[in-house]
Amino acid sequence: MELTKDYAKEIAFHLDGKLDWNEVLQFIEKPKYEEQGDLAFPCFVLAKTLKKSPNSIASDLAEKLDHPLFEKVVADGPYVNCFLNKKYVSKKFIKSILQAGESYGSLDMGNGQNIVVDFSSPNIAKPFSMGHLRSTVIGNSLANIVEKCGYKALRINHLGDWGTQFGKLIVAYKRWGNEDSVRQNTIKELLDLYVKFHVEAETHPILEDDARLWFKKLEDGDKEAYDLWKWFRDESLKEFSKIYELLDVHFDSFQGEAFYNDKMGETMDTIQKLELLTQSDGANVVDLKEFDVPPCLIQKSDGATLYATRDLTAAIYRHNQYNFEKTLYIVGHEQSLHFKQVFLVLEKMGYEWAKGLVHIPFGFILKDGKKMSTRKGKVVLLEEVIKEAMELAQSNIDMKNPDLEKKEEVAKMVGVGAIIFHDLKNERQNNVEFSLEEMLRFEGTTGPYVQYTHARGCSILRKASVDVSSLKISGLDDQYSWPVIKSLMEFPNVVKKSFTQTEPSHIAKYLIGLSQDFNKYYTNVKILSPDEQQESRLALVKTVTFVLKEGLRLLGIKAPDKM
Ligand code: ARG
Repeated sequence: MELTKDYAKEIAFHLDGKLDWNEVLQFIEKPKYEEQGDLAFPCFVLAKTLKKSPNSIASDLAEKLDHPLFEKVVADGPYVNCFLNKKYVSKKFIKSILQAGESYGSLDMGNGQNIVVDFSSPNIAKPFSMGHLRSTVIGNSLANIVEKCGYKALRINHLGDWGTQFGKLIVAYKRWGNEDSVRQNTIKELLDLYVKFHVEAETHPILEDDARLWFKKLEDGDKEAYDLWKWFRDESLKEFSKIYELLDVHFDSFQGEAFYNDKMGETMDTIQKLELLTQSDGANVVDLKEFDVPPCLIQKSDGATLYATRDLTAAIYRHNQYNFEKTLYIVGHEQSLHFKQVFLVLEKMGYEWAKGLVHIPFGFILKDGKKMSTRKGKVVLLEEVIKEAMELAQSNIDMKNPDLEKKEEVAKMVGVGAIIFHDLKNERQNNVEFSLEEMLRFEGTTGPYVQYTHARGCSILRKASVDVSSLKISGLDDQYSWPVIKSLMEFPNVVKKSFTQTEPSHIAKYLIGLSQDFNKYYTNVKILSPDEQQESRLALVKTVTFVLKEGLRLLGIKAPDKM
């Protein structure tokens, strides 16, 4: 918090150069118990230089420290504990947050540099999996956080739209497919065709040869093959778009794997010229033994390129295009080896910028402790899951607030918000247990709880019907507002931490904490009661609604004014 710096500076001032304020800052901590104050400085480090015991240094310092920010400063053994001046601090911060509005917490770390966020990236003709949902939700939030920190985010959907499977799909479609059913139910039909291909190929291996042939045709630009592939891609994208629309997630580019087809030759040439290519079982690989990593497969024996070749080419293309500072790849941890290999090959190719490529892995979504799978026909249709969440939210609203205006719109915000929050509230590397009932609860650590707290704040402000910009803020000094104010002051740090650790869960957890503090405040303090602190209390409510709304926005969640 900003005030920690002020405290450090005051301490440094009285140390006559023994430590500068930046050094002091490193040592400042939060006291264990609230009764011990807001900030503590342990004096052990000074014992040697000052040739005095930490306890006596602490009492000397405590006596000298004097500033309107501090209500009192006391020595507690070897610690100098500071109690901030609630009234002074709250007045100062509430004012500054109100002034900043939604831009409160914005940082200028990025100086407008580009960060590519490669996320979502489903495979066409295949269902949008739970893993892709996680990538979508985490990636979208990280892109928002990146922007909040002053970077420009480039949201790229690296569609899985190329590979030998399209040869199989074309063969299957030509044999057993039906245009209308594909149009009506694209993913299900294409998946069925794909499954049928594999079943039939067991007894008729000739189908595999056919598939290879058609993929070759596709690679060579054969019109029939290309048109079919393009149609599968367009129809699949149409279906994915429904999910993106529900989640309100947008992309700057859908350049997926196929986009790099005509660009891979150059990558291969460069690798060859650098003499990095070696043969292994007839395939071309880049050896990575020196890093204790298995070789990266670049080209199969039949000349076909691979997933890794396309990622190498994409990274190079994007660097030329965007001159990015970083690229974040939001992909499950089962692809850790793949990204390690791709990054190492780029490093071996001499690209300095490869240091800016980061794989951001995440865990699985589980149902009753087991991985939710889209394979073997057990397709969990994501669109339906999202719609179910919206319906459940709607029935919750019907129960709690049947007269609410725009009920459907709010139900969408709550249902979708619940799914997103549930995903983002835990560290991304952990697995997530999927439970609609759990995520839609209005109490506990859920999205609806935070949304509800926000709506509550809005409703107080509506009741008061004041012009917030003209409020007279004198400051607050009661015990319930103080945790709220301290939490509000933390917000910029939380944003920064979420960025440096690429971890949206810090924001989600923070919003829960702020909501809890605010709900305690709201239950214990009468906000609308005409005394000289009423305007300050209303201003506090306003700042809480700002921060809750902005925090939710960073997660990709809407905050309705009424619920
Ligand atoms: N389509 C891939 C999959 O579903 C994910 C792609 C991730 N992004 C990337 N640049 N490799 O497994």
